[in-house]
Amino acid sequence: MLSERLAKIRELLEANGQAHLLSGWDHLQDEARTLLLDQLQLLPWDTIGVVRDSIVHQVESHPPPAAIDAPVICDPSPDESVELFDRGAEMIRAGRLAAFTVAGGQGTRLGWNGPKGTYPATPVSGKPLFAIFAEQLLAAQRRYGVVIPWYIMTSPLNDAATRSFFLDNKCFGLHRSNIMMFPQGTMPSFDARTGMLMLSGPGELAENPDGHGGALAAMARSGALADMEARGVTAISAFQVDNPLVRVVDECFVGMHETPELSSGEVSSKMVDKIDPDEPVGVFCQIDGRTRIVEYSDLQRDLAEERQSDGSLRFHAANIAIHLYSVAFVQSLTSSDAEPLPWHRALKKSPWWDASSGSVLEPDEPNVVKLERFIFDILPRARRSAILRTRRACEFAPIKNASGADSSASSRRIQSELYGGWLQDLGVSIPRDAEGHVSASIEIAPLTAMRKDDLRAADLPAHVEEGGSILL
Ligand code: UD1
Repeated sequence: MLSERLAKIRELLEANGQAHLLSGWDHLQDEARTLLLDQLQLLPWDTIGVVRDSIVHQVESHPPPAAIDAPVICDPSPDESVELFDRGAEMIRAGRLAAFTVAGGQGTRLGWNGPKGTYPATPVSGKPLFAIFAEQLLAAQRRYGVVIPWYIMTSPLNDAATRSFFLDNKCFGLHRSNIMMFPQGTMPSFDARTGMLMLSGPGELAENPDGHGGALAAMARSGALADMEARGVTAISAFQVDNPLVRVVDECFVGMHETPELSSGEVSSKMVDKIDPDEPVGVFCQIDGRTRIVEYSDLQRDLAEERQSDGSLRFHAANIAIHLYSVAFVQSLTSSDAEPLPWHRALKKSPWWDASSGSVLEPDEPNVVKLERFIFDILPRARRSAILRTRRACEFAPIKNASGADSSASSRRIQSELYGGWLQDLGVSIPRDAEGHVSASIEIAPLTAMRKDDLRAADLPAHVEEGGSILL
């Protein structure tokens, strides 16, 4: 039986020029052999050949500069914002909103040994990222008297740990039946030199998560989309796991998404102004009349540096990875006749198993091409994709690196700065350093206040001590 399967798979591998994947076979027990055959059989063979030729050997993928332009940004006046807020609130109250977090990344840059969502993110209590999002959902559910279901995409590498974390923490007060987790897919890694698939050990295929663009297939496969439809959800508030300042439920943003004159209601996004040409953020562009995000690694240097007459960057609209998708739009993109999202290529350093020496080798140079899909490649598929301007200081404090920019330290500073500003506006005396930065750790829990106005009736201290900490 096993030998018959082996013969068939060997034939398949030979036809695809990948017979070396069986080179560890003699080292394997029967169970591992069966697993390997299962894995090889399930690989997307029809795409592997195409992908290998067209992408693995491709070095750069820059859009032609002539066709690229800055996008239109929606920047509502205070009066318009009130209108959008009311429209969004009505939609949320009707139970039509769900939340969706992409939490499948490996957090390698952060050096955290666990799912990134378990990282202690807030400046005083060190609350994990997942807890912040959960509390925001709880607060919004209470405010609107509805359920806002939460879908979380994990990866095969962190799915079990993510589930345990939620169970250990009693789902942070949310009802377990309103949280659905599902793992994203994987893609085999390619040898950067030869374009061949690789082994990470005898009988172990080297694979990587297929990027957050894998969310489309994962949402369909897991039944998440069907679950949303059954619950009457029509829009998904989608965000990355790494930003503790994300507004999981943002009425004004939902209102813009739901306004036909502003958005086709398929996919809408938020932007902040990019700090400088080197900031590692994707930028919104207009290419062939369609809104797109060009990732920082793909934006040509001269375009990244180009400035307008007032000195501002021409491609200034930074992607903060906060979007709203309509369920119908996502469904249309996951149907069998929809064109799949493109693959993006990343060259990485990764240990690999060398069959000739029978050992795992550590490369000195990047040796592996990993292919990932990006969820934001759905933008140009929309008829009219709207972008809302928002303030960096209020909504963007990502934790990506162990130190420096976008680190836990910088994120905590931004959070204290925001909450210190709220308190100061409400009459609390806040200590500041010579540059005017808040010099205390300040945290306001989502269940206490989702915005400054929620604090008006609260019992606030008269002042915060220099270097002190305060948690409300
Ligand atoms: C990302 C955006 C960038 C944006 C920036 C803002 C991409 C490709 N780039 O950059 O345009 O300006 O955030 O903070 O998104 N993830 C998965 N599965 C995967 C890979 C990633 O779920 O296979 C999740 C991660 O858990 C994380 C998010 O996607 O929540 C972002 O991934 P990351 O690789 O950290 O993107 P950045 O380089 O930070």
